[in-house]
Amino acid sequence: MHDVADLIDTSFLTDVLMGLSGRQKSIPCRWFYDDRGSELFEDITRLAEYYPTRTETGIIQDNIQAIAGFAGSEIALLEYGAGAGIKTELLLEKMDGNCLYVPIDIAGDFLNQTVDRIRAKFPALRVRPITSDFTIDFDIPDDVPTERRVGFFPGSTIGNLSASEARTFLGRMRRHVGRSGAAIIGVDLKKDIGTIIAAYDDSLGVTAAFNLNLLTRINRELGGNFRPDLFEHRASWNETDGAVEMHLVSRVEQSVTLADHRFQFEAGETIHTESSRKYDPQSFAALADGADWVVDRTWMDADRKFAIFGLRPKS
Ligand code: AVI
Repeated sequence: MHDVADLIDTSFLTDVLMGLSGRQKSIPCRWFYDDRGSELFEDITRLAEYYPTRTETGIIQDNIQAIAGFAGSEIALLEYGAGAGIKTELLLEKMDGNCLYVPIDIAGDFLNQTVDRIRAKFPALRVRPITSDFTIDFDIPDDVPTERRVGFFPGSTIGNLSASEARTFLGRMRRHVGRSGAAIIGVDLKKDIGTIIAAYDDSLGVTAAFNLNLLTRINRELGGNFRPDLFEHRASWNETDGAVEMHLVSRVEQSVTLADHRFQFEAGETIHTESSRKYDPQSFAALADGADWVVDRTWMDADRKFAIFGLRPKS
């Protein structure tokens, strides 16, 4: 019998072995977030160059009345990935008492911490956590009322999904909320490439440390012998995908062993560790349309760096 932790470890090993066996070596970005990786991500969100978190929070603050009005009253707020902290709290503040908060996250510990924090801040709020991986199919339990379910997916995490994964995800959310539901999605927008690259290659090297921490995690959890000092961080713009990509670049020709497998690296060869897609309002509307949603409302900052889209079901 496997417990959930075993299954998670196994898929980490599988993902890394498969990813390093491809022609373009790659590792899914979901594996960034061990304790250290989560801390480093928090640090990233406070960097001068990393505009998305601050910009999205500002949009919510400036439009809280309209956003809460769009969500409606007596709703079940389904948050996919329960990590948005202040952004969620801003919304919940407007709804305290007559809302059910449903945080959904695969990491049980993290979910419990979120639930404790939210319960302490909003004693009148009902909270119904769901431990689930929102990137794969799952059902919302029947005890979550169906009258008005509102999906909340801030942080531009949708940008870390491929176009087809994003469509599947939006379709899943559409199914979860039903015909009377809605969704509120935070999306980073296309802009000058220099601004985007700086956000993913900051001058303090925090994003580099975040990227390289993946190798340290592989060494610790999977028994690899990566030398992080022999890799460097690179952020580059992929025009075809409309995405900033993060890579780990091998500084030298080297081989690495991991779980009885040996992986050869040429000097300059890379491991693709993340894509962060940027949308514009039109391309996001087209994506949403493919998943049976209509963009009903759009809130943006004055510089149009980031958007929060209010979606309603198309049919
Ligand atoms: C979590 N996600 C939306 C971040 C992003 O901007 O794609 C992850 C990140 N990677 C580097 N910096 C931040």
